[in-house]
Amino acid sequence: MLKYLYDLITGGIMRETKIMLSESEIPRQWYNITPDMPNPPKPPLHPATQQPIGPDDLSAIFPMSLIEQEVSTQRWMDIPEEVLDIYTLWRPSPLFRAKRLESFLKTPARIYYKYEGVSPAGSHKPNTAIPQAYYNKKAGIKRIATETGAGQWGSSMALAGSMFGLDVTVYMVKVSYNQKPYRRISMETWGATVHASPSTVTNCGRKSLEINPDNPGSLGLAISEAVEDAATHDDTNYALGSVLNHVVHHQTIIGLESKKQLAIAGDYPDIVIGCCGGGSNFGGVAFPFLADKINGKELRAIAVEPSSCPTLTKGDFRYDFGDTAGLTPFLMMYTLGHDFMPPGIHAGGLRYHGDSPLVSQLYRDGLIEAKAYPQLSVFEAAMTFAKTEAIIPAPESSHAIRAAIDEALICKEEGKSKCILFNLSGHGYLDLAAYDDYLNKKLVDFEYPDECIRESLAKLPVIK
Ligand SMILES: Cc1ncc(COP(=O)(O)O)c(C=O)c1O
Repeated sequence: MLKYLYDLITGGIMRETKIMLSESEIPRQWYNITPDMPNPPKPPLHPATQQPIGPDDLSAIFPMSLIEQEVSTQRWMDIPEEVLDIYTLWRPSPLFRAKRLESFLKTPARIYYKYEGVSPAGSHKPNTAIPQAYYNKKAGIKRIATETGAGQWGSSMALAGSMFGLDVTVYMVKVSYNQKPYRRISMETWGATVHASPSTVTNCGRKSLEINPDNPGSLGLAISEAVEDAATHDDTNYALGSVLNHVVHHQTIIGLESKKQLAIAGDYPDIVIGCCGGGSNFGGVAFPFLADKINGKELRAIAVEPSSCPTLTKGDFRYDFGDTAGLTPFLMMYTLGHDFMPPGIHAGGLRYHGDSPLVSQLYRDGLIEAKAYPQLSVFEAAMTFAKTEAIIPAPESSHAIRAAIDEALICKEEGKSKCILFNLSGHGYLDLAAYDDYLNKKLVDFEYPDECIRESLAKLPVIK
């Protein structure tokens, strides 16, 4: 009777602040959206032959189990017990009902956020770093070379390396290396070696320093350095923190848990939002829900990027290299051109010229939407969030907050009570210098001029 009255008053929607799952409820499989897509993503091409690459082309830098996941068309993939065991250090992550933000905005919208900042590295990135380290260790690899933008991925890989006894070398984009010393220190604490990129350790690093000694670096360039390192050392593999299919599959644990938690709350999202750098946390939170959309359910999924690196909103959908030096296969994706150098905004993890081929194809097919925001309005949203929900968010995640607030304000205008879910991909406690800049009015907006984007795109490889 009481439950009936409660449901009558609340419409069946629970009003708890935190919706938790027990460890036994952690999903035991990752979701692969590929078999459910109306148009599967186009295959990566070999840069020399321009033919689809085979597993052998990738085996110099990836273990076979990850290559199999990369090309898999199986909907579900078992999560190894060893990985689940380490996941329990922070998973399941909480789902919050943003009651205080809702009250502040005076919106009828129901806002939920999945908080991935509870991981030891402070973001969603360990969800894939742990399995990547596990599969490499099983394949007998001794060292991982990788890149990092803001330091979130590098610190996650350093953490994963320490869990499985692997050495880790990280090429960290120079602008972030200088802006975020605490991330470097975290990586070193977990035992990794960190180089500011462009570095003098690799050929492509040295070449770009010759052209411009003040090169601030970019994710594309740091990837080139890490790939070169892995390809030139037999005991070393490469690991990527975003973009590739297997990375996005691993991140679907975010959306799968959210689905269970929303079911406990008696709710289901009308809108799912994630910030988008290479697309892994967006895909991670959105794809398990998009599966329902593909089967007829009403849902909007919004990927949010910085207007200074507007890959989905202003880039072209075509084959391009995943890195600056042209060492990777061609990926079919939205791209701004592989030597596009985005300005040194504080959301360092969103400064990437391309996007996940899975996210790109879904955007091309109109199944997802994209929005771009300048950094000042993003920090304004971050401040509102910190003052209402208490967590200081990562600058990257704050792009999702901006979009969620805007959607909630539209609900207010229209008097509609929609359910909005966004992924809070990380905390910002190691990004306080960015907040200091914002508070001292040192942050500026930067809209990349269209003609610079056209120039960069004009240099893209021509695929016959
Ligand atoms: C906190 C945070 N969110 C989001 C991203 C963007 O990556 P992705 O688009 O792969 O989720 C990063 C990248 O470093 C990050 O650190």
